[in-house]
Amino acid sequence: MRSVKVAKRSELSPGTMMGVEMEGKHFLLANVEGTLYAMDGLCSHMAGRLWEGTLEGSVVKCPKHGSRFDVRTGEVISQVRTPLIGKAKPLGTYKISVEGEDVSIDI
Ligand code: FES
Repeated sequence: MRSVKVAKRSELSPGTMMGVEMEGKHFLLANVEGTLYAMDGLCSHMAGRLWEGTLEGSVVKCPKHGSRFDVRTGEVISQVRTPLIGKAKPLGTYKISVEGEDVSIDI
């Protein structure tokens, strides 16, 4: 595991999120009341781009079918049940650190 610089602190104001791609993998960065979190960026249901969804508190809602995840833990909060496609599963979370303006995650 190594720490990789992914964003500038000023790009993430409270209540906002962004997507970053590192080495072919998508990550979601979110600022929840001043604390930054990093989670897998693609929904575990059908790969919706979570950073294009909405963030309410610590809960991000997938723009595709509306599954909701807690960005602090990756836990599934709620989901639309689609029997033929299956269920959303918990997402991975990543240690995030801020040094000056630089935001890094451990991948
Ligand atoms: S792709 Fe996210 S809920 Fe279906």
